[in-house]
Amino acid sequence: MSSLLIEGVGKSFGSLEVLRDLELVVEPGEFAAVIGPSGSGKSTLFNLVSGLDRPTSGRVLVEGEPAGVASGKVAYMPQKDLLFPWRTVLDNTALGLEAQGVRRKEARARADALFADFGLDGFQKAYPSQLSGGMRQRAALLRTVVLGRPVLLLDEPFGALDSLTRTEMQLWLAQMWQRHRWTVLLVTHDIREAVLLADTVHVLSPRPATVVARVQVPPDRSRGVEDFTAPGFAATERRVLEALRGTPAVRAGVGEG
Ligand SMILES: Nc1ncnc2c1ncn2[C@@H]1O[C@H](COP(=O)(O)OP(=O)(O)OP(=O)(O)O)[C@@H](O)[C@H]1O
Ligand SMILES: [Mg+2]
Repeated sequence: MSSLLIEGVGKSFGSLEVLRDLELVVEPGEFAAVIGPSGSGKSTLFNLVSGLDRPTSGRVLVEGEPAGVASGKVAYMPQKDLLFPWRTVLDNTALGLEAQGVRRKEARARADALFADFGLDGFQKAYPSQLSGGMRQRAALLRTVVLGRPVLLLDEPFGALDSLTRTEMQLWLAQMWQRHRWTVLLVTHDIREAVLLADTVHVLSPRPATVVARVQVPPDRSRGVEDFTAPGFAATERRVLEALRGTPAVRAGVGEG
């Protein structure tokens, strides 16, 4: 069964048509990326997958169940994921578990166990203002991952970071994903980030958004820094860029692997 099945989905807000006939499938253990112009409807799509909102047409299934009733299967890191400034980092990262009914001590223990992996060890009692931007994003990601849900939605997790920190975070996430093999749907504006991290890059058109290309990233790569300069990597980046720019040859390839 697919982890995520988005079938013929349309979404309008009044007269504003945001998504049109959108099709997207994510298999278990797959890292999928969605890239598209600003305002094309990516966050709207995530709200449908996480069950926060409903499609106007079509259906969204998470592990075979309608997203509205399957919201417990999805962990969502929103585009603006603010940590509460008055809570320590550990309390922030345990918050989601506590909200779903896990006892405080247990929630903190489960979050604490991930701190080393997320490069946050020693900062459990710090406050968010004492962390760097990259550390804050890792804390927000930890808070999402610790929920242990089958599908992770990451909406531009590194969008606000400077370029060097962003690269470090991308490489770190690539390594983490190789160890944990989470099922991920990532929204990004960054072609290189999509190609580094994802197995499949779904390219959206401007609003009303639909998938204009699916670019498969060749699996024979390390997901490390050496990928950035590999010829196959550049060729894949170029295919994504051409699809974003609406190059006719790529448009003709919609739906093909
Ligand atoms: N609740 C809402 N009511 C009305 N319009 C909405 C609502 N949510 C989103 N929109 C509109 O839908 C369109 C898509 O918004 P969305 O936030 O999904 O874009 P996006 O692709 O995530 O953009 P960005 O890349 O800038 O984050 C925008 O025109 C936005 O104004
Ligand atoms: Mg958005």
